[in-house]
Amino acid sequence: MSETCYLTTPIYYPSDRLHIGHTYCTVATDTLARYHRLRGEEVLFLTGTDEHGQKIEDKAREANVTPKAFVDAIVEGPRGVKDLWKLMNISNDRFIRTTDDYHVKAIQRIFKRLYDNGDIYKGVYKGKYCKPCESFWTDSQLKDGCCPDCGRPVADAEEEAYFFRLSKYAGKIRDLLENTDFLQPRSRVNEMVRNFIDPGLEDLCVSRTSFTWGIPVDFDPKHVVYVWVDALSNYITALGYENNRYDDYHKWWPGINIVGKEIVRFHSIIWPAMLMSLGEPLPKHVFGHGWLLLDGGKMSKSKGNVVDPYILAEKFGVDALRFFLMRTFPFGSDGNFSNEALIQTINTDLANDLGNLVSRTTAMVEKYFGGTLPADQLEQPEADGELTALAAGLRARYAADMDTFAPHKALEEVFKVIQRANKYIDENAPWTLAKDMEANGARLARVMYNLLESTRICAILLTPFMPSSMEKLFAQTGAGPDVQTWDSAARWGSLPPTTTVSKGENLFPRLEMDKALAELEAAEAEAKKAALPALELEPQAEETVDFDTFCKSDFRVVKVKACEPVKKSNKLLKFTLDDGTGTDRQILSGIAMYYKPEELVGKTLVAIVNLPPRKMMGLDSCGMLISAVHKEKGAEQLNLLMLNDAIPAGAKLC
Ligand code: ME8
Repeated sequence: MSETCYLTTPIYYPSDRLHIGHTYCTVATDTLARYHRLRGEEVLFLTGTDEHGQKIEDKAREANVTPKAFVDAIVEGPRGVKDLWKLMNISNDRFIRTTDDYHVKAIQRIFKRLYDNGDIYKGVYKGKYCKPCESFWTDSQLKDGCCPDCGRPVADAEEEAYFFRLSKYAGKIRDLLENTDFLQPRSRVNEMVRNFIDPGLEDLCVSRTSFTWGIPVDFDPKHVVYVWVDALSNYITALGYENNRYDDYHKWWPGINIVGKEIVRFHSIIWPAMLMSLGEPLPKHVFGHGWLLLDGGKMSKSKGNVVDPYILAEKFGVDALRFFLMRTFPFGSDGNFSNEALIQTINTDLANDLGNLVSRTTAMVEKYFGGTLPADQLEQPEADGELTALAAGLRARYAADMDTFAPHKALEEVFKVIQRANKYIDENAPWTLAKDMEANGARLARVMYNLLESTRICAILLTPFMPSSMEKLFAQTGAGPDVQTWDSAARWGSLPPTTTVSKGENLFPRLEMDKALAELEAAEAEAKKAALPALELEPQAEETVDFDTFCKSDFRVVKVKACEPVKKSNKLLKFTLDDGTGTDRQILSGIAMYYKPEELVGKTLVAIVNLPPRKMMGLDSCGMLISAVHKEKGAEQLNLLMLNDAIPAGAKLC
């Protein structure tokens, strides 16, 4: 029976479009999954989305849609999460959404099991409460002693909550971290022990009553399950744990969880403690990779300083982008992302080194031998030995790096062979040998063979990184399926001597730095324009409304007295309106991407004024402004209904 290997990425929050940081982790995990498949192992590769929680509830409210409609648009919609993984050639076998029915039911069962075995108990959650935002904060989250969201004062408050006995597992977790190779890279162990275990592990609050967008605790439904219990369990519910959707938990678990360093804490402390409590095996490894930084800071959705993987993949090609991510950033460390570095890597490694090796070799085989090498070949051990030994031993060095989560080092090894092969061309000067084919034909044939054979071995090992380009490369260099295998990568000489090449398209064209940068900037600007709004939302279901109900809606003419952006929101504008009553009316509207606040002051608009007040970002909104919405070139356009300024505030629409 072949070995099994279960690999996972984090499940990402669909609170916004995913960026190059998420793409980095998913591409890395995909590369590892493809590597294990290449080795002949049976692989299950899981990714997905983490869809519950306060943040998504807030975002959906801002966008005026239900949380489910909001996440559906980001996960399933055009250019959504699933589309992105398809574009990036991600070979995941399953995709879990935490709103999937089977997962929801499994979480309720898992929570109940933890409760029944005494590891979850009911207690009182004490914290600082911000009333306008309806949010609890811990002391360390406060900003100058006030709510980090709205800046207002907070008060001591308590709420009933369930707690998980994390403290009970402190000793076992310390042992796991310090005395096993569970957490990788090893450098992360100290950080976890020093920052979290040494100060003493406290029990963890695992339910909330302050928001509703979560999985209800079925035996106490005013509580929803804390998002991390919901999220971490995905790695086993996706295998059928406590549900019937799948039935291969015992085949795949335990697996390897690949995550970013900021969530190592959840994966190396809370997650194993939960599994210990459930009596289930722990992950074989948790690997915490580093961050892609932009101008020295973390790229993040909330900061808005993100790089769009779509644009890069469309501009430079999926494989070039995949390769750049794996080649440039040592997997366990942080690294600075830049477009210049991307273009540089494409030019140096792919166009100059690999691309040139392939195009020079195939061109020479065509020119000197009409495309097919003759069987008569002359080896010269002194001249050939270094290249052949390096290529023959490559697979072992590569595997050692891939097995220790160092794909960047594996690539370094591959490129040493590619560079050696290019040097071998210059050393053996085929163009000089070709001047006297009668005397040197057999030697020239062997030189060409050695180049094709080195290229073949490198291409096999590059397949997990650049799957579709390597398929083309095999076709160009005449390496058939039986010499594209893992076994054959360790067997120098597997390529038949009388191989036929076919020079094809240039796989990695050289880029001109300035031109490519300018084009990229233009594409980014274009995408920004076209992407407004960021979401393509499903139309609301068409329902009829009876005449009396319709008449209850009170539409009034309003005049904009003041308009300003809402702090920390990139969608909301706050309007102060004259509605003819003599008292100002405040309405918040999620239209910041369509209008500048100053454009709207003095305008005559329409609002429905008898909706119940709603809180958004801690502010009251009393009514709703009416706009017309349509699509143009796939992008939604929004126009506020504007009336003739001669119409007085307060006039009723009927
Ligand atoms: O944390 N550089 O989801 P998330 C490198 N839902 N990787 C990055 C990155 C960057 N700048 N930014 C994000 C969550 N990532 C939870 C996870 S798992 C049970 C629940 C990658 O959408 C990195 O892998 O914030 C990080 O851990 C993950 O995206 C966080 O994605």
